[in-house]
Parts: sequence; structure tokens; C-alpha cells
Amino acid sequence: MATSQNYKAQRNTRVRNLLLAIHPGKVPAANLRFTHTFGLGGMALVILLLQVFTGILLRFHYDATPAGAYQSIQFIQNNIVFGQLFRNIHYWSGMFLIVISFLHLLRVFLSGAFLPPRHWNWVIGIVLFLLVVFINFTGYLLPWDQLSYWAVTVSTSMLDYVPLVGQGIKELIRGGAGVGAETLTNFYTFHTAVLPGLITIFLVWHFWKVRKNGGVILPRNTTEEGLKLTDTYPHLVNREMVVALALLAFILVFSLFFDAPLLEKANPAFSPNPAKSPWYFQGIQELLLHFHPVFAVLIIPFLLLAGFTLFPFFNYKNATGKLDFTAATFKPIIVLPVLTGLVVTPVLVLVDEYLLHFQQHTTAIPSWISEGLFSLLFLAGLTWAFVVFIRLKFSKKKIDIVLALFILFTTAYIVLTLIGTFFRGEGMQLIL
Ligand code: HEM
Repeated sequence: MATSQNYKAQRNTRVRNLLLAIHPGKVPAANLRFTHTFGLGGMALVILLLQVFTGILLRFHYDATPAGAYQSIQFIQNNIVFGQLFRNIHYWSGMFLIVISFLHLLRVFLSGAFLPPRHWNWVIGIVLFLLVVFINFTGYLLPWDQLSYWAVTVSTSMLDYVPLVGQGIKELIRGGAGVGAETLTNFYTFHTAVLPGLITIFLVWHFWKVRKNGGVILPRNTTEEGLKLTDTYPHLVNREMVVALALLAFILVFSLFFDAPLLEKANPAFSPNPAKSPWYFQGIQELLLHFHPVFAVLIIPFLLLAGFTLFPFFNYKNATGKLDFTAATFKPIIVLPVLTGLVVTPVLVLVDEYLLHFQQHTTAIPSWISEGLFSLLFLAGLTWAFVVFIRLKFSKKKIDIVLALFILFTTAYIVLTLIGTFFRGEGMQLIL
């Protein structure tokens, strides 16, 4: 009896020591509140681990050649015990990982945790987010069916529009002019070795930074009681376990009901109509229908990404990590850009689709000016009017303006993604 108790005590100490290598021994009580982080960073980690586990299982039977890839996926689904289920889990959790990392990014932003001293962790986070998107994208090609083949063909073709280096980069990624055997080898190597390695490095760096910055930012309105330190083990760890188990249960049930898509085998000679990129690039594909290609695939995404990455460095006077969510101005600064993005984006898409035909009236002007520069300046003018309105009606603080712009552009990109995914049919025509 005594030996078994001794054993249990030793085991508990070992588990605690392992977990305390990641967490500090004690954390402020206020940081245990679920609604402060919603456990989103932890969820992203759980999904990453699940991806590694299911990915290794799939690798045992996957054949990364155009002749064998599709058949090997069929074999996994039909002949391996739980093969279909493991493929479903790997596919769906890959999609959930993008959504959850994005929600984590939003939570970090809205709780002001992107401000110094956490600014470099924000930048590391942006890199992690891009890596998560690219690991998903490289995995997308592997089933080698019509859906994946043409999605990758369409997405990589967008690089053609990047001046000077675009075509070179496209051929480097594809391993040749078209999407073929070399592309599959490249994508497979990136998906199963290069990107997991990079994600591991950035993840370790990310966690180290969270600890170095004194743990997760304190919630706004933290009371004296909330500042009191409490034992990480079991209080925080138990909560994390509950979130992890609930998430795993959700993914399992979802994967039992919904199969990962697999169309007919890739046919390079027959392009489906419409041929669409994966959903997370649909926003860019939609922009391509309205802007000169260089603006759609390079200038606008670059400006947005640079803006999002550099937000923390804008030197906000008196802005501490704790954004004042209780201020009278706070709600409108969130609600107004969401509403504006929801209404104005579809209106602009419709107007451009049915009313404006800029190029027809301005044939003497090069299209990069009429459909690129003019359109961008027009959008910049609208954004400026929006900022003036916020300043006059709600707040002149730089941090509030940045918040509003972040929410506006994020909403606009989500709306473009939804339009591209659900409202574009044959020939990329708008459909209901
Ligand atoms: C694979 C993706 C990611 C994983 C696994 C991950 C994991 C985590 C975890 C576990 C935490 C601490 C607890 C929490 O906030 O939930 C955290 C905090 C943080 N993350 Fe991430 N993260 C990821 C992506 C990102 C992204 C995309 C960003 C933003 C661009 C970001 C920025 C931050 C920052 C600034 C903190 C500190 C938050 C604070 O102090 O409140 N992370 N991350």
C-alpha cells in the first residue's frame, strides 16, 4: 500500500516537473479565467500535436508520386483500419488549426497583448500563422485529386503577376513550369519535414517569449484578488486538460460524420470550372477579379501583412497592454468597422462587377493605373474618410484608430473569402 502511494507521489512529481518546464510554478489567479484567453493558444498546440500524430500514421502508406498518390489515399481510406477516420482527423484539424490560430491572433490583438513588451512575440506569432497556412497549403496537393491539383495550379499561377521574380519563384515552388511530379516531391518535403521543423523552432521561441514576458497578459480590471498567485499545478493544468479533451472530442465527432473530400484523380488536361484556390486564398482570388493583378496578389496583401506585423511598433502614447474595453468609445470602435466591412465590401464588389467598367472608358491609360493605382487610391480615400469619422465621433487615440482599421480590414478579407467561396460559380461569375 505504502509503495503504491510512494509510486503515485513520484509520478505526480514527475508530471508536475514536466509541466513546470513549460509553465511558471505559480500564475496570477485572474489568468485562470477561461474567457481571458479562451484557451486558444493551447488549442492550437493540441491540434499541432494531433497533426504530427495522424500525419505520421498517414505517411506509412502514402506514396508521393503522381502515379501512386491518389491510389494510396484510396487505399488508406478503404483498406486500413480507421484509415478514413485518421485521414478525416488530419484534414479537418488542419483546417481548424488555421481558424483557431486566427482566433488566437484576434484574442491577442483585442486584449492589447501585441503591445510592448510582447511586440516581438506578436511578430513571431505572425510568422507562425503564415507557416500554419503554408503547411496546410502544401498538404492540400498531396491527395492528387482534381480539387487539390487545380487549387494548387490556380494559387501558384497567381505568382506570375509578381513583377520580375514571380515566374522564377513559381517555377522554384513547382520544380518546373507546370504542376507535376517535382511539385509533389517539393510539397511533400515541405509538408512533412521543412515546415514542421520551422514551426517547432518558432513555437519553442513563442513559448519562451510568453514566459520571458511574465506570462500571459493580465485581463483588464484585474482586482487585488486576481493578482494573488496560485499554483499552476493543478489549477491551470487541470483547466488546460479539460479544454484539450473537449477539443479532441469535438474533432473526433466531427471527423466521424464528415469525410475529407476526395474527387476523381488529377487530370492535368481537364480544368474544372470554376477552378478555385483553397478557401484561405479565396480573398486574394476575389481581389484578382477587381484589381490589376500586381495590386491584387502583391501590393494589397503586402501592405496588409506589413501593417498587421508592424502595428505594435507605432509608438502609442500611454497605451499599456491593458486596453480600456470599458471605455464608452470601445464598443463602437469594434462594432462600427465590423458593420462597415460587412456592408461596404459586398457593395463595392457588386458595383465593380455590374456598374464600373473602368478599363472600357480609359483605354488610353495603362491598366496598372486605371485598375490598380486608381482603385487603390479610391480605397485609401474611403479608409481615410472612415478614420476621419472615427476621430470626429468616437476617439482620437492612435490605438483606437489602429484597432478600428485592423477590425475593418479583417472583416473585409473575411467577406471577400466568403464571396469567393460561396458566391462564385462557372467562369467565376457571381451566383446566389
Ligand atoms: C501555431 C500557432 C500558435 C500557437 C500553438 C500558439 C500558442 C500560444 C500559447 C499557448 C500562448 C499562451 C496562452 C494563450 O494565449 O492562449 C500564446 C500566447 C501568445 N501568442 Fe500565440 N500561438 C500561435 C500563434 C500565434 C499568432 C498567429 C499570434 C499573433 C500574431 C500569436 C501571438 C501571441 C502573443 C502576443 C501571446 C502572448 C499573449 C498574452 O500575453 O496575452 N500567437 N500563444
